[in-house]
Amino acid sequence: MKRPSVLVACVVAVLSLGVAAQGTTGANAAGPSPGASPSPAPPGTTLGTAAARSGRYFGTAISASKLGDPAYTTIAGREFDMVTPENEMKLDATEPRQGQFVFTAADRIVDWAVQNGKRVRGHTLVWHAAQPSWLQSLTGSALRQAMIDHINGVMAHYKGRIYAWDVVNEAFSDSTGGRRDSNWQRTGDDWIEVAFRTARAADPATRLCYNDYNIENWSWAKTQGVYTMVKDFKQRGVPIDCVGFQAHFNSLTPYSADFRTTLRNFAALGVDVQITELDIQGAPATTYAAVTGDCLAVPRCAGITVWGVRDQDSWRSGDTPLLFSGNDRKPAYDAVLDTLNAAGTDPSPSPTPSPTPSPTPPAGRCTATLTAGPKWFDRYDLQVTVTGSDDWIVTMIVPYPEKFITAWNAGTTVNSARSVMTARPDGHGNSWGVSIRHNGNRTWPTVACRPA
Ligand code: G3I
Repeated sequence: MKRPSVLVACVVAVLSLGVAAQGTTGANAAGPSPGASPSPAPPGTTLGTAAARSGRYFGTAISASKLGDPAYTTIAGREFDMVTPENEMKLDATEPRQGQFVFTAADRIVDWAVQNGKRVRGHTLVWHAAQPSWLQSLTGSALRQAMIDHINGVMAHYKGRIYAWDVVNEAFSDSTGGRRDSNWQRTGDDWIEVAFRTARAADPATRLCYNDYNIENWSWAKTQGVYTMVKDFKQRGVPIDCVGFQAHFNSLTPYSADFRTTLRNFAALGVDVQITELDIQGAPATTYAAVTGDCLAVPRCAGITVWGVRDQDSWRSGDTPLLFSGNDRKPAYDAVLDTLNAAGTDPSPSPTPSPTPSPTPPAGRCTATLTAGPKWFDRYDLQVTVTGSDDWIVTMIVPYPEKFITAWNAGTTVNSARSVMTARPDGHGNSWGVSIRHNGNRTWPTVACRPA
């Protein structure tokens, strides 16, 4: 059968606490008995595996220009399971001339991440900085259209490969709680809403984040301004899935213990919260531990990303704000690792919420929904239910180091790393099951459906 050239990824995993009815297992039927309680995962020996014990990720900013440095990639490859391109996805890099997209450097990072079993945060689609000169010369409707075209161009290229996008970055004023003046802002107050609506249509299966700095302290006017916007978006159905707290802490904007309150309050609006660019002047171990604890205390805190691998990689290298100095782990590293490991395990992570699927899939689309099945010490099962089509192709990807074990009631193939599964109907209808070896990570797979 000739497949359509445009793949329609419809919907990703939908968390459910319900336990799905199970079919018979296939090749691997001799699994542990259902109902056995999971044994605690061993302590993680890297930031990524320690964070995964509670279903979270631990990421870093990556520079494409450093991927040829074995000292850099050894640490980055070992420690982190989420990657944010530090500069390579910004507008000046991806659309240096209007309508001419360049993904060479960003692709190097995405390819490296995928090859090393890591997920990617996209950073960033619309920002007042890192603008090419052609964009700076536009105003009004021409600029607004350029924004829409840029979002569509970049998101189409990376469709299905990005865990979450920073759709809009740093749109609020530092002091007033209102919007920052920028060329985007001068196109009209609705520019952020338009950006998010455009992004949802461009890739319905990725998470859409608003990202900013100096919104960690609950009492700051800027925090309140962003909170009010997110609340309004949720009330009016503007698509937003997550808020990124950059968390660049220093003597002028220090860490405050009410960061946890901020994370909780935003999460209560119905969005994921993520710590997206963490660095702390001087890297005090106690502050790093406190920030880590703040994320762990909030079920919808999906993960933490530090803004660089080693101090020498930092945009503020003079502040020595990161977890590594050369090849060496700093005391802050041990503090973060210990805090992550002390959190224990949560086999039903509540982060990883996904974009809300449309109740009725549009014609020509399908939706694959995941619900929880039994869990054992080494694996967990999911039920997959497809709606909108009876002849579908479902693709699922598990993050490293999880692996697909088997599936039942669907015809499936898996890649050699057992991280990507493709499924088709096999005569058992539209409900089928899959078993996943968690290997210390229990993050559910991303799932996309398209009609065959
Ligand atoms: O690569 C060129 C080099 O060829 C040239 O010689 C040199 C001369 O200035 O510039 C180099 O590019 C610089 C680039 O970093 C790589 O080092 C840019 O000038 C410089 O503007 C750029 O700064 C980045 C900054 O965002 C602006 O895009 C920082 O690396 C990056 O860490 C920083 O990241 C931001 C987040 O995106 C948003 N939140 C704040 C955060 C820190 O400012």
